[in-house]
Amino acid sequence: MHRHVLYPGSFDPVTLGHLDIVERASRLFDRVTVVVADIGKAGLLPVGERVDLFRASVQGLPGVEVHPFSGLLVDEVRARGASAVVRGIRTQGDYEHEWTMAGVNALLSSDVEYIYLLARPQLAAISSTLVRDVLRHGGALERLVPAPVAAVLAGRSFPHA
Ligand code: PNS
Repeated sequence: MHRHVLYPGSFDPVTLGHLDIVERASRLFDRVTVVVADIGKAGLLPVGERVDLFRASVQGLPGVEVHPFSGLLVDEVRARGASAVVRGIRTQGDYEHEWTMAGVNALLSSDVEYIYLLARPQLAAISSTLVRDVLRHGGALERLVPAPVAAVLAGRSFPHA
């Protein structure tokens, strides 16, 4: 059986926590397709750059692809021929958010399975929101984001990140 999972998110920017989820998912599934949401909300990076940074972070990881997506997640799952969605959970707040999203998604399409991986404790504090805050203040990124992301973003100024 060919097991294909989608890993959706905003990834603005991708963090070491996201990368850990992809690595762990790639050990459980034959294919992991990361889909980067073309969110309408004001973020830090445009979707094309978020995709590029994620691709650079997973280079060499077999079975992993990264693509942009817009529209409903359940439609994207169907369009890509996947059978499951994986998400990481760091905190109780994440759990509650995931619970409501999974509830709505199940009402939209009942044939998708949702799989949650608990963040490793040493990575559970990292969020894209806090990375953007560190960036805005010129802090060190090496322990928060994959090396290619740190290399690209360090030194850039993001006054409104
Ligand atoms: O990284 P995020 O911001 O928590 O990711 C949220 C995301 C992109 C997975 C979620 O907002 C999503 O699936 N958006 C697509 C639109 C959709 O399907 N909405 C209905 C169910 S929430």
